[in-house]
Amino acid sequence: MTNNHTKSTDKKLWGGRFAEATDGLVELFNASVGFDQRLYEQDIRGSLAHVAMLGKQGILTAEEVGQISEGLNSVLADIRAGNFEWRLDREDVHMNVEAALRDRIGPVAGKLHTARSRNDQVAVDFRLFTKEAALDLAGKTRELRRVMLAEAEKHLQDEVILPGYTHLQVAQPILLSHWFMAYVAMLERDEGRLRDAAARMDESPLGSSALAGTPWPLDRHMTAEALGFARPTANSLDGVGSRDFALEFLSACAILAAHLSRLSEELILYSTFEFGFITLPDSHTTGSSIMPQKKNPDVSELSRGKAGRVFGNLMGLLTVVKGTPLAYNKDLQEDKEGVFDSYDTLSIVLRLYAEMLPKTVWHADVTKAAAARGYSTATDVADFLARGGVPFREAHEVVGGLVGLASRSGRQLWELADAELQGAHPLLNAQVAQALTVEESVRSRQSYGGTAPERVKEAIQNAKEALEE
Ligand code: ARG
Repeated sequence: MTNNHTKSTDKKLWGGRFAEATDGLVELFNASVGFDQRLYEQDIRGSLAHVAMLGKQGILTAEEVGQISEGLNSVLADIRAGNFEWRLDREDVHMNVEAALRDRIGPVAGKLHTARSRNDQVAVDFRLFTKEAALDLAGKTRELRRVMLAEAEKHLQDEVILPGYTHLQVAQPILLSHWFMAYVAMLERDEGRLRDAAARMDESPLGSSALAGTPWPLDRHMTAEALGFARPTANSLDGVGSRDFALEFLSACAILAAHLSRLSEELILYSTFEFGFITLPDSHTTGSSIMPQKKNPDVSELSRGKAGRVFGNLMGLLTVVKGTPLAYNKDLQEDKEGVFDSYDTLSIVLRLYAEMLPKTVWHADVTKAAAARGYSTATDVADFLARGGVPFREAHEVVGGLVGLASRSGRQLWELADAELQGAHPLLNAQVAQALTVEESVRSRQSYGGTAPERVKEAIQNAKEALEE
């Protein structure tokens, strides 16, 4: 990008009343072209739709429409080909495109902006971008869901057992597939949030003009339709002044980032020497420059860390918007970078996980042994007693005593002698040993949504059907 510091040249585009050129530092501070040039496709699409509508409404002649459209298409082709000089003194993507058009076709270029303001121009460009970004991220979220579902299915074959945790203390054994399906459920909602946001922002603000609408006989339905929007926005102040579409996108991104961060945290823990549950693929881990034995889970750590910037983007824009009176204020120029950043960040994290998870090896022997530790089947023993008629609270206390006895003597529940079990409660007969295995514990959790293999199988089937919709 160039900074010509020709100052007033481009003020001629819209600023006849300025005697003095814009200060260089102000120009630099004001300019958004450094980042909003990313909107050039949307900007030119918006202009083409606008000018076609001006022609149809008899506001511009067919010849003018032809000249302007051809000029815009040539600008578009040059930008795409990398033959375009973005100029800081032309402030933003809109002024750069319009000034380039004027350079090519002369003063008739000035007719493009009839019945339009940069306020509705930027609003329509940014909505187009954000809607496309939301749908694209929804698709990438779906891809990761598909991958996690396939993992769930794969590990169901061997009924791989994982410790289930609460408070990061071993709580009850679960199927590894059940764990995968928990993320499948989260990702399904994440996709839904992104699609809901896209559906709600599916309105064109073009034709709101500066803030109050315009005396020109526009056909806003025509431009909305040409740009692929469901309808035009219903209020011109709202059309140019609202950014809740971006906030909604950013909040769906923040929740998705939180889920991916939890996944990351689990994988980081599970890949440690101490847990030893998984081996991450060499292709997605890094070594240490000093410690030769290290294999670092950088992808997961960065994914966890990047949640910070994705949350920050949401907080940043909420804070920008909260103090702005209707309608447009220059503050709103701060809306774009966070949206770009959350979109780019999550695009890469989603892709990396979709690649990494199928290559991650789970050590079923280790996870099963871990699931058996920590008296994880104590609840099953209490349930066994309760099935025999003992009130659950009382059963809970009896088993608490047994856990105390076992842990004081460094034993597992299944290592207690029959006499010790009988001593704790007469109902604790040999049959209870059955309830003490992790397999039996998992198999017994038949409630809807539970971890029993049949339930998980059904959940996988349902999730597959949902994916095919
Ligand atoms: N670059 C500006 C933005 O992103 C475009 C709108 C400018 N409108 C204005 N009235 N200054 O918000």
